This record gives sequence, structure tokens and C-alpha cells, in this order.
Amino acid sequence: MTSRFPVSARLFDSTAKRVPAGVSSNTRARAPHPIYFERADGAHVTDADGNRWIDILMGNGAILLGHNRPEVQDAVRAAAAAGLTTGIETAAACALAEKFLSIVTTMDMVRFTNTGTEAVLHALRLARFATGRKRIAKAEGSYHGWSDEAFISVWADLSRAGAVEAIQPLAGTPGQRGELVSETVVLPFNDIANSVAAIERHASDLAAVILEPILIDIGYIPATRAYLQALRAACDKLGIVLIFDELLTGFNVAPGGAQEIYGVIPDLATYGKALGNGYPIAALAGRKGLMEMLAPGKGPVFVGTFNGHAMSVAAAQASLAVLADGSVAAAIDRRLKGLKEAFHADAAELGFSAVMHGQGSHFQWYFTAEKVVGYRSAATSNASAYRAFVQSLFDQGLLVLTNPLSHHALSAAHGDDVIDRLKEAFRVALKAAEEALR
Ligand SMILES: Cc1ncc(COP(=O)(O)O)c(C=O)c1O
Repeated sequence: MTSRFPVSARLFDSTAKRVPAGVSSNTRARAPHPIYFERADGAHVTDADGNRWIDILMGNGAILLGHNRPEVQDAVRAAAAAGLTTGIETAAACALAEKFLSIVTTMDMVRFTNTGTEAVLHALRLARFATGRKRIAKAEGSYHGWSDEAFISVWADLSRAGAVEAIQPLAGTPGQRGELVSETVVLPFNDIANSVAAIERHASDLAAVILEPILIDIGYIPATRAYLQALRAACDKLGIVLIFDELLTGFNVAPGGAQEIYGVIPDLATYGKALGNGYPIAALAGRKGLMEMLAPGKGPVFVGTFNGHAMSVAAAQASLAVLADGSVAAAIDRRLKGLKEAFHADAAELGFSAVMHGQGSHFQWYFTAEKVVGYRSAATSNASAYRAFVQSLFDQGLLVLTNPLSHHALSAAHGDDVIDRLKEAFRVALKAAEEALR
């Protein structure tokens, strides 16, 4: 069969012999072959066949300011021209730390890494050192990177996951260390009674409780304030380190992230994504008493050749300069609200059980009559309806993810003209989803 994307098909045929599935990250694999890209600008990307797509993936939610944002690109070019790359500390990284903490005012200190996975690993190790305990509790459906320690019970098989009173931790991938999986305590998101009971049951062994305060990697599911307050109170009472993974919420749902919205302050928090607008940088921030343990000779080792890389630091300085007052993210949120309203009006007209959740730049659709409050209710989203919906969006020139429990994103470059096109595309796709279920 000839492909709609002959150049991508040819690239795949030759590349797949050298690169497994022809991609560097499994989420980019696609049947019958991946699409390869050559250019990006604002809200659009152009593939190797010359097709121009509306991007609603935006670098897994990282590119909040849009592709090829001039302030960010100029800063990166200037940093490259200065000749510094990595392995020694820079004045720019000092300035970035100051800017970061002037925006995230709830945190005392910060260190930079390259990826969220690394930042989370440092947070967990620091928590184990500070408490002298080894086990970690995490929320079901919450994603914290691909490590053996944290990639547990994210997109779990519910037929094996047990009841919410005693959730069975499940490996995220073959090849994972079984003892790390079975040691993990999995909490039912937004279920105060069962989460607090599980924390209390394992308290003497628990170093940390970690969660995304808004589950975004499986769509968009906000915690209730009462839930976060209950976790905060339990951790305080039992001497456990509370960690918010703000990779997706940081600088996005509010300049100071979810903790600014909720008024619940964790002991440690991880950041990334919008921090560098597509350049590889992440951060671990936290309370002074804990973060000071990262100094040499005081506690766990925290090293990395590329930590505080000059180009990524430059990208982050430029990004935070734009994001600091919150007006850019608020404008994106206003456009997202318009999109959600149009989607809900169209769904109501069709009499179809579909909701669109989201805030800041992040959003996702669920095709279910159940109220989506955690992983288990999100998993009731009808997969056939979702597949028909995203296939229609794809056919209309939108970049989409095919897993019903994934997320999509806008950016500052998704202006009113693009939003109007999205409204129309969502309306057409809703009809396709509704027809798929008839
Ligand atoms: C909430 C959250 N935590 C951690 C990570 C891992 O970050 P990275 O892919 O930079 O390792 C991600 C990435 O998708 C994320 O969304």
C-alpha cells in the first residue's frame, strides 16, 4: 500500500534498520510508520513531505510559548556564540536560579538538571536520605518519568491493579526491578480516606509521597484542595517528604505552578517542560533544610555533565522572562476556555457523553458519562469513540496522540485563527466519534 507520506515512508524503511521502530522515543512510533518533521513555527509543524500540521502536542506540553519563539531562539544563539557549553558553572545559571525563585516564591532553593526523570530521581534519593526510610508512595496514574523507581502504576492494567483499598503496584515496563515495584505504595488519586490509610499503614518505611497535583500525563485531572491538604497533613504528622511533580503544571496553570493555585506547599517539587520552551532543562526545588543537604559532603551526590547547560539555561532565562507575570499563560487559558465551551455545546447538541478537561495550555477529552476524578474513572473513557475522534482530527491535519489517556496542549502561538480551526475540527471529529458508537 502506498503511504500518504511517501518521504516519511522512505525514511522509515531505511532508518528502521538502524533505529528501533525508527524513533528515539516510543511515543513517536506510529503505524504503519512514523511521520518525520523538518520545520516548526508557532503553532505549526511541517513534515518531510511538505505537509503543514496544526500542532496540539507541543513537545509533550513543553513548548508553551510556541515553536521557534524569537526571544528564546535569540538567547540560545547568543549563548552558543559565547562558546560556553557545560561542565563549569555559569553566571547565567546563577541569574536563572534567582529568576526561578522570584516566580516560584514557595520554594527556597533550586538545582538544575536536564530531564524531569533525573529531577524526580534526585528528589526521591534526597527524601530517602533525609528520612532514613526507603519506600515511596505515589498516586495511581501519576507519571514521573521512565525510571525503575517511578514508572509504576501509571497506565496500569486495572484487571490486575486490585481494589482502591489496597492497590497492587504494577510495573510500567518489562525489565524493571521487581523489588522497586513491589515496595511502592500506590494511592488512589483524590480518595482521601484510602490514600491516608495507605500512608499510615506504611509510614515507618515511607520516605516520600509523590504526585502530579493535577494528573496531566493521563489527560487533565485536578486534585481537590482537600486531597492535597490531607496528603500534606499526613506527611507532616508522619515525617514523610511531600513531593509535587510540577513538570507540566509549573509556569503553566499559574506562574508558581499548582502549589500557587492550591495554597498547599510541598517539601520538594520538580519542574521542566515550559521552563525551557523545548530545550532540555528541568529543576529540583524545595525547602532550604532539605535542599542544603545537596551540598558536597552533606548528603546525596547530585552531579551531571550537562546540568545547567549554557544553551538550556539561556532558553530558560528567556522563557521565564516572558512567563513571569502570568499574562501569557492566562491568555492561553482564556482561549482554551473558549475551545472547551464550543466542544461542550457541540457534544450537548449531539447528546453525546464527552467532556474536555483542561487549564493553562493542557487539555484532553474523555468519552464517558462518569465524572473523571482519577485514573480509574478516566479509564472508562470509550476507546473506540476516542480513536474515531483523533483519527478525524489527524485526517483534518492535527497532530494527535492515539492513547485515550494522554494529553494535548496549546501554546501562546495558537491565536484566534488557529482556535477557530480547532473548534471546527473538534466539531467534525465529535460527529465521527458519535457515529463510531452507533
Ligand atoms: C509530570 C512529569 N514528570 C516527569 C516527566 C519526565 O520528564 P522527562 O521526559 O523530561 O524525563 C514528565 C514527562 O513527560 C512529566 O510529564
